Parts: sequence; C-alpha cells; structure tokens
Amino acid sequence: MCGIVGYVGANNAGDFLLNGLRRLEYRGYDSAGIAITNESQFHVTRSVGRIDALAGRLGSNPVDGKLGIGHTRWATHGPATEENAHPHLGGEGEIVLVHNGVIENFQILKNELIEKGYVFSSATDSEVVAHLIAEGLKVTKETPEQPTLRYAQAVQWAIAQLRGTYGIVVAFRDHPDLLIAARFGSPLVLGVGQGEYFVASDSSPLAGCTDRIVYMADHQLAILTPDGFTVLHRDQGKVNVQIQPLEAVEDDVSLQGYDHYMLKEIYEQPESLRNAMRGRLDEENATAVFGGLNLTPQQLRSVERIILTGCGTSWHSALVGEYLIEELARIPVSVEYASELRYRNPPIENNTLVFGLTQSGETADTLAALRETKRKGHRTLAICNVVGSSIAQAADGGVYLHAGPEIGVASTKAYTSQCSVLAMLALYFGRIRHLSYEAGTNIIADLMKAPGAVQEALACNEHVKTVAEKYQNATNILYLGRQLNFPTALEGALKLKEISYVHAEGYPAAEMKHGPIALVDETTPSVFIVPQGTTYDKVMANMEEVKARGGPIIAVASKDDPHIDAVADDVIHIPDVPSIIQPIVSVVPLQLLSYHIALLRGCDVDKPRNLAKSVTVE
Ligand code: F6R
Repeated sequence: MCGIVGYVGANNAGDFLLNGLRRLEYRGYDSAGIAITNESQFHVTRSVGRIDALAGRLGSNPVDGKLGIGHTRWATHGPATEENAHPHLGGEGEIVLVHNGVIENFQILKNELIEKGYVFSSATDSEVVAHLIAEGLKVTKETPEQPTLRYAQAVQWAIAQLRGTYGIVVAFRDHPDLLIAARFGSPLVLGVGQGEYFVASDSSPLAGCTDRIVYMADHQLAILTPDGFTVLHRDQGKVNVQIQPLEAVEDDVSLQGYDHYMLKEIYEQPESLRNAMRGRLDEENATAVFGGLNLTPQQLRSVERIILTGCGTSWHSALVGEYLIEELARIPVSVEYASELRYRNPPIENNTLVFGLTQSGETADTLAALRETKRKGHRTLAICNVVGSSIAQAADGGVYLHAGPEIGVASTKAYTSQCSVLAMLALYFGRIRHLSYEAGTNIIADLMKAPGAVQEALACNEHVKTVAEKYQNATNILYLGRQLNFPTALEGALKLKEISYVHAEGYPAAEMKHGPIALVDETTPSVFIVPQGTTYDKVMANMEEVKARGGPIIAVASKDDPHIDAVADDVIHIPDVPSIIQPIVSVVPLQLLSYHIALLRGCDVDKPRNLAKSVTVE
C-alpha cells in the first residue's frame, strides 16, 4: 500500500509533497515522511501517525528545496515507528528513497548487503532497495556525455534483483537535480508541468498542479530533471510515452458540515445512486445501456457464464449481483474472492465474462485476478469508482460508478452504487435474452425508486443512534438475512468490525442453527434483516429460534410490518420496496448503526486502525 510523491522543478518541493501526501493518505496513515534536497544535502523529516503530525514537524522546522520525495505508510514489514517511516537513506547517505510495495526476497538481499558492510537502521524491506541502489552506483560507470544514465543503470541493476512489487522514487546526493522513478506492480503516475515534473502513486496529488499526465507501466523507469523527462523500459529501451489529459476530478472533498466523511457519504447515497443510473436506464426499450463495455450485442448474447470478483465490500456487492443476474438474465454467475482467484486455476469456459468490482480501482488482488483471467484469454470488465485507476485501465472495458470521491475508509456509497450497477447489468443481460418488455419496464420503475427509498430510510438515523447506545458494549453481534439480504448481513457485520472493532459475523439466517446459534445468549445481540418478501416467514421463524435462547434481537423491517414488534427487542423501519432494491435500502440502517457504535466507543470512524482505503499489496 502506501502513497508516494516526488517533485523536481523551479518551485518549492515541500508544498506539493505535503499536499500530495494528504491526498494519498487513504493509502495508509501509520507514519509519513519527506526528504528535500537543499545544497546537495538531504533533509529528512519523518513522524509516526498522520500527515498532520508530519506537517506539525515541518511547520516548526521548515526546509526549502526544489527537489523532494514523500511517503505515507501502511506498515507491512516492521511496526509503525519513526525508524521504519520512509524516506530511507541508502549507502552512506548518497541516495534517498521512498517505496510502495512488498519486496519478497528482502531478507536474502539484506543478509548479502550486511555482509558487504551496509548498516540498516529500520526493519523495512524498503531500506534494502535503498542500499541496493547505493551498491548499484558502485558497479556502474559515469558516462560524461550522459551523466544521468549511470544513475538509471544503478536503479535498473538494483530492481533487477527484486522479487515482489515496487513503485519507487529515488533522489541522489551527488546529482541534486535528478529524480528516478520505477514501477513493477505498484502504480505510478508522472505529472508533466512547465519546467517542473511530478511523480505520485495516483493522479489525485497532481490535480491543480498540471493537467498532463503519464501512466507508467510495469518495468518502466522514468528519469526526471527540471529540463525534461525520459522513460525507459527494462527490455525495450527508450519509450515514447503518451501524455494524457488529467480528467477533471470532482474535487470537493470537504466535510460540508458533517462530522465525518463516512456520515457524509452515507447521506450522499440518494445522489450517488441517481448518478450511477443517470443516462443508463432506457425506458423506451425497457433496458439499460452502457457505453463502456466495448462488446457488441452479439458478443453479449453469447456470454454463457459470468465471474464477479473483488475484495471486502466489493465482494459483498458481487454476491448481490449473483442473485440478480441469475434471476433476471438466467446466466450462471460465480463470485470469487480476487485474492483466491488470482492463484486458483478454475476451469473457465469460453464465453465467460469476468467483472472486477472495486471502488478504488487499485486493489492489488483484484487487479491481479483480472490480469490473470485476461492473460488466459477471457474478456475482463471493471465496475469501478475511480476514473483512470489501474484496474479501469487494465480491463477491456467497464462501468464507472460515478459515486464521487469516497474518503471514509469504510465503503458505503460505493457499495450501494455497485448494487445498482449490477442490477442494471442484470436487466441489460436479461433483456438481451428472455426478459419481456413488460418485465423490463417494471424493473426500471423499481430501480428508479431506489434514491427516494434510501432518502426515506435515512430518516431512521436518530432512532438508530438510540439503538447504538443500547448495544454499544456488546462484544459479539450476529447479522442474519436470507437471499438478497444475506450479502446485506455480511456487509453490516463488516462495517461494524472495521470501524468499531467489535466482533461481528454475517450469516444466512437459516444457516445460523448449524453452528453460530451456540454463540447466542443474553449478551449477544442478533441483527435480523427481515423486510417483506418471499422469505419473510422463514426469517421470522429463525428470529423466534434466537429469541427462545434469550438473544436480544434488532430487526431491520418494512415500515408497516404488523408482527415484528412482538418478536424483536428493537425495530428499525425501512420503506417497503421491491426486492431488487432491497439490498440498497436495507444496508443503510446497518451503515448508520456501525457509525454510531464506533463513535460511542471512541473510535476513529474515518480512519480505523490497521486499515487503509486502498489495499495495494496482496
Ligand atoms: C470495507 C472496505 C474494504 C474494501 C476492499 C476492496 O468497508 O472498504 O473491504 O471494500 O478493500 O476495495 P476496493 O473496492 O477499492 O477494491
């Protein structure tokens, strides 16, 4: 994971580095640091904790300079301490480096470097790369007519020995105008300015600095000076890269009066759902339309199987997609954890479409799973929120969520947008096959109810707060639902776990009696998602089973349910909606419940411990 930035040019590097790191903080926030070159000396400032802590240190001890690198860390090797924070010096301080990724053979390389006399001051795998480049400088020779080449060769020499993934930016004490960036498996973007050049893990730090960017590819290395930049490929030499316009990103990332991004994003869902559906529902033809699938109707007609893959919350939305696509389009769907799919070798028939679901578009496992299936010749598509992200670029086509920036680490609005996009895809595939015009028209009418129904569901917030107060000290909570509301149960449990650190399990409600019911006692509440629908009576029966064993019950139920009060201890009402949009509506109170419990327990809602918004390591 981690976020990295670099700057070389005519202006003060520190401003860009600090602002850039703030924009990349979603990639990790254990510790941070920057190095600025001034009068051929590196000035390194590092601190444990958030970028604010680093900014505080720099405020009391400012450093000027026109070249610098910066890093915000999500610890992989070594705890979050100042020693392990980046940047790391190499050799005897002749180079300084920031790294994003994981070096799998770091221990072997470290042992070899120690034998050669290198002294390590951190427990990180990254410091190995710094010393290795310093060693590379010893084994390469100066070429007077191309003075930067030797530095590039030293970096090439070092990275050729690495196993794992890296995005690195390196500065050199003896060449204070030079930055070298290289990538394999961890994204890097170059920003091309007027007499100044930028590097970052993604394009977000570049907004407002330049509108011309270059997405670096694996095995590429960039040489940047105030006079220009050159990109080399490991095997192909100099590359003529394409400079692309930086798409205007929605830049309003302020809290707009909300206490937390998570709450703001929960409340944005009526709007984000409208944006996901805007222009995609074709009432005239009773279907959905997608501009970016890059498949002809004939190709789509011949799809015989769909694989939906993703991680965490995105995997939960894939489960919703499985129900809907199988029900409406009668196409067999399998849902795969991307982290498993990437190494599994399942038989995949011809005419299988593989969808990667991802908010960030940077999740390493999802990217790898898509690449692996693409390599095998299958068509891969992304359902993704972040425009221009690595997965959006790697896929053959896809659908953007248009949910706007999701800053809170716990995914909320991206999840409901994913569910709505999957519902529209189910309609689209269904209408290419057997689904009638009338059925298509009814489904469109149902989907269009989603934003209003979510708006109505949000009215439960104050009541959810009182429920949260009652159950805030629980140490185990079960979440139970059936069919389309089983993924909702999983998602509710994940939300609670990740932001309040309370253990929670999601289960299909009927499955509970095959094991988890042993957990039920008067201290273990169960949250039942039990809106009106075909399995309502069955779930009510499951609820009685929990009640009979003394377990407290919180029910998320349709607003006019006449029976629920007799069984549940606490009821959170949601509007009575068609089943296709139930997962979108029923998750809202669960998002709010986890938010309030986390707040009451004094947790950092937007930046929970040990997590990062974008998981760029496997
Ligand atoms: C949970 C959460 C994570 C992400 C997962 C995949 O609230 O946010 O479980 O869903 O890390 O991330 P994306 O969707 O960016 O691929």
